[in-house]
Amino acid sequence: MYLRRYFLTMKSKALFDTKVLKVNPLSIRFSPTAHIDGSLPIISDPETEAALLEAARIIRDTDETVAFPTETVYGLGGSALNDNSVLSIYKAKNRPSDNPLITHVSSIDQLNRKIFNQTHLSDASLFDNIPAIYRPLISSLWPGPLTILLPVSSSDCSTLSKLTTADQPTFAVRIPANPVARALIALSDTPIAAPSANASTRPSPTLASHVYHDLKDKIPMILDGGACKVGVESTVVDGLCNPPMLLRPGGFTYEEITKLGGEAWSHCKVENKKTVEEGERVRTPGMKYRHYSPSAKVILLIPYTKDNIINGKENKMLMLNRLIKTELQANKNIHKIAILTSLKLQDSNLQSSILNDPDFCSTTFIIERLGQTGEEIQANLFAALRKVDETDNVDLIFVEGIGEEGEGLAVMNRLRKAAANNCIQF
Ligand code: TXA
Ligand code: MG
Repeated sequence: MYLRRYFLTMKSKALFDTKVLKVNPLSIRFSPTAHIDGSLPIISDPETEAALLEAARIIRDTDETVAFPTETVYGLGGSALNDNSVLSIYKAKNRPSDNPLITHVSSIDQLNRKIFNQTHLSDASLFDNIPAIYRPLISSLWPGPLTILLPVSSSDCSTLSKLTTADQPTFAVRIPANPVARALIALSDTPIAAPSANASTRPSPTLASHVYHDLKDKIPMILDGGACKVGVESTVVDGLCNPPMLLRPGGFTYEEITKLGGEAWSHCKVENKKTVEEGERVRTPGMKYRHYSPSAKVILLIPYTKDNIINGKENKMLMLNRLIKTELQANKNIHKIAILTSLKLQDSNLQSSILNDPDFCSTTFIIERLGQTGEEIQANLFAALRKVDETDNVDLIFVEGIGEEGEGLAVMNRLRKAAANNCIQF
């Protein structure tokens, strides 16, 4: 009895007094070839340099983690080579450990030295550990939001923690573009395993405040480098199978991969299996687990494709009006509703058909604009979901989806998961 109470107290106790340190990405400069030869950055702002050195020490010398900005989303990083660091990541996020993590390196030189255990490679053999199929892609898209799968070298010389790879024969790796992320990896000279720095199942964080909301007291440090520009995670591709596959749509579009990858990628397939069989290994993120979920119910309005377009503006408003009435009738606890708009739902129409409807006089509406272009919508998506859920505390969220070309593929992939089964043709 006493023992049980002791453990319960231990569990609820804060583990860390989480420090949030401001860093200025613009004060960090890399040479144009640093992502290949591993040369270190020059950091002109002393505060940024001190924060990065302290974060690098945690990654290199302890079993703990640091949250840091990447160009996609904030990551929760720990040494990819150290079992205990990877355990700290899983623990802080409360993430299932059979979902493998992406390893982040700062250069090809670091990949060779720290993961493949090969030092003093000649310039001619620098890329030998990367299969030829990936080379056109990485030469155009690294540093950046592209993750590739590489074979794990034979177990006796592999330095990667088996917990990073979830014991798979391949590992996922990328060189991020964000200067803070690159500098942290370069200064620690440690490959960093980093999933998104949210609590498992929640939307990914694109601001340091999102990380603080989810992981306060659970991690020692957050580097605050401002908003993430891309807003969704990296594109994960597998060039080790034939035809090559896009496993997770992300920061680079399918169209960019097929255009820049050379002949082999022009026939790239998109992984779209929704569920994983019992006992099957996880191949792509979020296939098996709840993902990107606010606490409020999300209803995704999926636009009709060109072939079956029937609805004009008027009908869309009538339809949304009817959907809201149905939800309010089914659940008397709904008082506050968010509508996240993108292209078609205009403020003026919402005003006349919903906000002024006497049937909704005791309902509060929050209208949040996601943006006009695919890039804007992608960059604002997670922040908008978190704002209406965590700050406005709405009870229900409608999101206007977009077409699945360009950035739309990654946006709709995240939104379908956030909405679970609540998707409606609109
Ligand atoms: O943009 C990003 O990629 C962010 C930032 C922090 O860099 N990271 C990120 O990590 O999204 P995470 O852990 O949330 O997503 C990694 C996903 C895993 O869920 C997994 O499905 C896939 O990458 N992955 C990792 N290793 C794999 C492997 N060996 N085979 C197939 N998929 C793999
Ligand atoms: Mg994630």
